[in-house]
Amino acid sequence: MQRIVVLISGRGSNLEAIVRQSVAQDWPGRVVAVLSHKADAGGLAWAAGQGIATAAVDHRAHATREAFDTALADAIDAHRPDWVVLAGFMRILGDGFVQRYAGRLLNIHPSLLPAFPGLHTHRRALEAGCAVAGATVHFVTPALDHGPIVAQAAVPVRAGDTPETLAVRVLAAEHRLYPMALRWAVRGRLRLDGQRVLQLDGEPQHLFCEET
Ligand code: GRF
Repeated sequence: MQRIVVLISGRGSNLEAIVRQSVAQDWPGRVVAVLSHKADAGGLAWAAGQGIATAAVDHRAHATREAFDTALADAIDAHRPDWVVLAGFMRILGDGFVQRYAGRLLNIHPSLLPAFPGLHTHRRALEAGCAVAGATVHFVTPALDHGPIVAQAAVPVRAGDTPETLAVRVLAAEHRLYPMALRWAVRGRLRLDGQRVLQLDGEPQHLFCEET
């Protein structure tokens, strides 16, 4: 059984989608721990209620980013993960941390990368006049919101959309996209080929989410 450790900062709706689908689809992998830098992250309480191990590593208790990264890595490694999954984790992780988990560290970003790395993606997509928005699951590299793309979900921008209405539609797509990508990961169906990620069964690495 592959061991997945999820890092969150907030409500953890992507975490919830991953846990539910891993069980419902009987993946050869399970979320064994959920960690956060915020003790009051909603997703921690939800995970604890599911009987999943949880821990908070408070970034404010560490003088430097490196010290925080080391404490976080120690907490992660206690659970011997095969995969470390960032699901709405809002702290920037240093190069050392990223290198330590190279090839087994995934992130979801609420835009069609390489467009709109960073914050306020939905507002920026609307301001840019995009007709399509979406989300990306990617391997994490030291560059922020950058790295080989595992899968992307495209979501239409509708007349009258606000950042909030678009965010709801993109989040629904994320709840399909991240479990799909992670299912491939735990089944050993992903291979890195330079900057490209190959899905070894030839499954489409995109979702078109028109219906929400
Ligand atoms: C998601 O939109 C994710 O893409 C972004 O933060 C949000 C996290 O939501 N990075 P949740 O905590 O999974 O509900």
